[in-house]
Amino acid sequence: MAGKSSQGADFFAPMRFEATIEDCIVEGELPRDLRGTFYRSCADRRFPAMYADDTPYNSDGAVDMFRFYDGNVDFKSRYVRTPRYLAERAAHKVLFGRYRNRLTSDPSVRNVSHNTANTTPIIHGGRLFSMKEESLPTAMDPHTLETVGEWDFNGTLKTVSFTAHPKQDPDTGEMIAFAYEATGDCSDDLAVLIFDREGNLTRDIWFKTPVVSMMHDMAITDRHVILPTTAMVTSRERLERGQLHWAYDPDCPAYVAIVPRDGTSKDVRWFKGTPDQAMLVHTTNARTEGNKVILEAPVAQENFHQYFPRVDGTKSDPSRYYPTLRRWTFDLDSDKDTWEEEILFDGLKVTSFSRMDDRYITKPFRYSYMMMNDPTLPINRDFADTLAVRVSNAWFRFDHQTGGIAKYSPGDAHGISEPQFIPRHSGAAEGDGYLVGVVNNFRAMRSELVLVDAMNIEAGAIAKVIMPFRLHMQVHGYWASDETLPF
Ligand SMILES: [Fe+2]
Repeated sequence: MAGKSSQGADFFAPMRFEATIEDCIVEGELPRDLRGTFYRSCADRRFPAMYADDTPYNSDGAVDMFRFYDGNVDFKSRYVRTPRYLAERAAHKVLFGRYRNRLTSDPSVRNVSHNTANTTPIIHGGRLFSMKEESLPTAMDPHTLETVGEWDFNGTLKTVSFTAHPKQDPDTGEMIAFAYEATGDCSDDLAVLIFDREGNLTRDIWFKTPVVSMMHDMAITDRHVILPTTAMVTSRERLERGQLHWAYDPDCPAYVAIVPRDGTSKDVRWFKGTPDQAMLVHTTNARTEGNKVILEAPVAQENFHQYFPRVDGTKSDPSRYYPTLRRWTFDLDSDKDTWEEEILFDGLKVTSFSRMDDRYITKPFRYSYMMMNDPTLPINRDFADTLAVRVSNAWFRFDHQTGGIAKYSPGDAHGISEPQFIPRHSGAAEGDGYLVGVVNNFRAMRSELVLVDAMNIEAGAIAKVIMPFRLHMQVHGYWASDETLPF
């Protein structure tokens, strides 16, 4: 991990720490009618990596929750008790090897689940899941954060993997997911998985991918499922050589599968793009208009996961790391396997993380929220390495109708996690609500949760929840209102 000697570089050092805080310290005033729970899936390596060239993605999962009620907030954090956590806890040392390569793990655990459960939390069917894409979701108690265990949906799930980015249809209440390498490492099997509101698997659609690659995120419309491949590729030979699961192939084109939600494997259409379109890691939103499917997403021109090498060992080009926000239109009436591309913005150092008001998934929408590395903001030089290399220092709101932008920066020695949009109330207009997220204060070596008015983010935080310690490194978050999950 980069960061050299600055204090901030130590911020994510292993703590092996869990906590419960009732009545957290709050600066400012939390809205009294804000009632619900903000969950975070985090990556926190409990033991130093077995291999120095490993990736932070290979860290143990932990889930945090901030529960808001009557102007108060309570906090709880727990590691996910995965089989991997339990095995290393029993051995008191690291046993699991390079990222997604079980051949590099200690022989005693090669057949133990390598699930880290460290990427995304979601509430569906009353259950809390923390998910990691090469494994099954891990079910947890949404109130105590006790681990229930890997969840195969009562034996109905036939895949060995499950995306960390399923989508919930705001109209039908369904959860749409997918699995890649669905029958095991390096397999070219894909499955679209559709669950009803209660979490019962109602459909699975199996087909093959033209390239075995990282497929991190997906999008849905009211009629279609959209699955982009990336240029992060793998092979059985890589794993047998003891390498990390992924390498970047700069010659690999982008592929996008469009699958009718009510279709079969015969209805799957593959579209083919260029290598410059093959680093779509997170989507923003999609919709179907007539027979056109429209996808909006940040897309980079180059692999920005710096710990994953190029397949040929050549150096990557950092000037191509930062995504541009693009709109891709797929014409299902056309026989062509290409799509139209429109650049919505470029030239800003945004990350690939992209969130929105989730009530507008599948619908025309106006606002998205991203993290960015903003070089125009003041940076305390003591933390410059950390802020320039490792973390984002601002939130960014993009107006998809006008192209307008707005920014929020928490401070000159602060890193910021993914913003989570919370509607002001269930009937609020799109974008009318709050952004919450964890800020890491490298100067004070502690974290805080900030709450910002989503329509006026440049005005700064309405309230800050002051944590007396540093928190785990967040990957993604989820908001469950009290209407979704009463407590
Ligand atoms: Fe993600």
